[in-house]
Amino acid sequence: MNNRFLENFLWGGATAANQCEGAYNIDGKGLSIQDIMPKGMMSAPTEVPTEDNMKLVGIDFYNRYKEDIKMFAEMGFKTFRLSIAWSRIFPNGDDAEPNEKGLEFYDKVFDELAKYGIEPLVTLSHYETPLHLAKKYDGWIDRRLIGFYEKYVRTVFTRYKDKVKYWLTFNEINSVLHAPLMSGGILTDKSKLSKSDLYQAIHHELVASALAVKIGHEINPEFKVGCMILAIPNYPITPKPDDVIETMIADRQNLYFADVHVRGSYPKYLNKYFKENGISITMEEGDEEILKNTVDFISFSYYMSSCITADEEKKKAGTANLIPGVPNPYLPASEWGWQIDPKGLRYILNVLYDRYQKPLFIVENGLGAVDELITDENGNKTVNDDYRIKYLNDHLVQVAEAIEDGVEVMGYTTWGCIDLVSASTAQLKKRYGFIYVDRNDDGSGTLERYKKKSFYWYKDVIATHGGNLK
Ligand code: BG6
Repeated sequence: MNNRFLENFLWGGATAANQCEGAYNIDGKGLSIQDIMPKGMMSAPTEVPTEDNMKLVGIDFYNRYKEDIKMFAEMGFKTFRLSIAWSRIFPNGDDAEPNEKGLEFYDKVFDELAKYGIEPLVTLSHYETPLHLAKKYDGWIDRRLIGFYEKYVRTVFTRYKDKVKYWLTFNEINSVLHAPLMSGGILTDKSKLSKSDLYQAIHHELVASALAVKIGHEINPEFKVGCMILAIPNYPITPKPDDVIETMIADRQNLYFADVHVRGSYPKYLNKYFKENGISITMEEGDEEILKNTVDFISFSYYMSSCITADEEKKKAGTANLIPGVPNPYLPASEWGWQIDPKGLRYILNVLYDRYQKPLFIVENGLGAVDELITDENGNKTVNDDYRIKYLNDHLVQVAEAIEDGVEVMGYTTWGCIDLVSASTAQLKKRYGFIYVDRNDDGSGTLERYKKKSFYWYKDVIATHGGNLK
């Protein structure tokens, strides 16, 4: 394929602290909500961390980060997306002083990345609210979370101001609508949560996010601070006008988060939605002013598209992901039922760019699949993951198409560049990586790392600036 990716395109991979670090109670780290979610996002939390929680050990990135970063460098990564575990820095979230040991850990990780010229891309909050904030304040429902988050971001922005340039405020901020505990640290069960409380929590996050942009730019004007949304393009299931209108409404449920981040104020269509649903939120004086601190770029995850129907009966056959929708009869699906739609990526890139004219960064994309570890003719353990190569190839071809369409794309980081624990199901069996980690869902395994076939393929993609894509 013709080379359409610019020299400075940020190729890389993405992870999150709670899904790979392990060391959940080491060096002063406090508990996060993930430590009591052994079965993933939709199951009930436990009282205390339990042994069956794969995230407590993760893939032991905390101790093996040097080995892992070396392999990322071998693939030619220009960037590596990771999150800072908030509870490593402020163990309870509302502590007076940060935990020095936690800060030192990320110093070491960033220094290691710098050794190889890999630019860190840091998510400040990736589904890992300190547990104490969930228990004492019910997470983001409480306005005081803004202040705790502000203190946390000031601390890390100041500490790493010369080591990190690219920041994301909240992972998939729109997912709080569907997974309030995982995304918003809200312990009140979703069934008991009023819409007003939920939208109030969202308001607090939006204010906190804008505040982070403001503070970041004050601390280092060179910082690039972005929002991060779960991007799911919606297609009407039929051309019936009712399905089309329903699709427009579904789109707005996702896009309003980006609208506020990019335009600096609430979109008018929300007034109607709030009115129709009896939602009222409190906006304090000064909030509107803070929201005007708009992001430098928009980042998003893309795994699948979704179809929307206005038919209440058909809605019941929802798709397998976070966002409601119905299956698309024209698309295949992964082993976990996530529908595979490479062209949807070109489509959403164009939709977002047409709407905002801001640089876009694809910070998650990938295929969660069951891998079989084999021994090749040279006696090396590996995985022949042609299915993953195909998935990524097909998506990258569509990114190239979008670039050709005129969309400004800053970079692309595949999700779980090294196998890690799944967010939705808490399994390790759902693997995304170029690097296989020997760890199984029953906790067995050596934690050794092995390069999959896709490792060499991605290395080639980066080296040729996409020239090997088909
Ligand atoms: C995104 C999250 O929703 O999807 C990640 O930001 C997550 O944390 C990824 O891991 C893939 O989802 P899953 O459930 O397969 O891990």
